[in-house]
Amino acid sequence: MDSREIEADLTEVLVTEQQIRDKLAELARRIEADYEGRDLLLVGVLKGAVMVMADLARELKPHVNMDWMAVSSYGAGTTSSGVVKILKDLDSDLSGRDVLIVEDIIDSGLTLSWLTGNLASRGAASIEICALLRKPDAAKVEIDVKYLGFDIPNQFVVGYGLDFAERYRNLRDVAILAPHVYS
Ligand code: IMP
Ligand code: MG
Repeated sequence: MDSREIEADLTEVLVTEQQIRDKLAELARRIEADYEGRDLLLVGVLKGAVMVMADLARELKPHVNMDWMAVSSYGAGTTSSGVVKILKDLDSDLSGRDVLIVEDIIDSGLTLSWLTGNLASRGAASIEICALLRKPDAAKVEIDVKYLGFDIPNQFVVGYGLDFAERYRNLRDVAILAPHVYS
């Protein structure tokens, strides 16, 4: 799906497909250098991280393993509570593994804060984070993100895996959703 075709639903395209591609290539070169000679396990957080995972993994030259978790925040509402429930756990044993969590976006940071703690308790050798997007003005907890794509304004965005009510995930770019769509 192209931004042009759903122009009326979007306020502004923030990051284009090409900018994402270029950034992931840049991050992949850093990751390759940092993990040289080690076996990397990429852990994607469903469903938002599917596109980042697919493109980052293919950009990486060495072998990598990929695994997935699905989590959800307890409680209703659109704001993250920080209390997280595992809907689908990893298939892999993490003991001694070098883990790179792959995420779409860091908003409050509460999900990733919980997730890194949870994975750390499983005996991984190392845990780092790669996130395509971050909203610095929305942070409730500090997240140490080693590989970051773009800082964006504190607005609701869709595309490249990010949804509103399960739509727009297949939009190629990342764009601000027009308020009339959700209000
Ligand atoms: P956090 O726990 O507040 O950092 O939020 C984590 C999750 O909320 C992300 O992984 C996304 O799935 C979702 N999320 C946060 N901001 C947005 C947004 O602007 N658009 C779509 N989903 C979002
Ligand atoms: Mg997510």
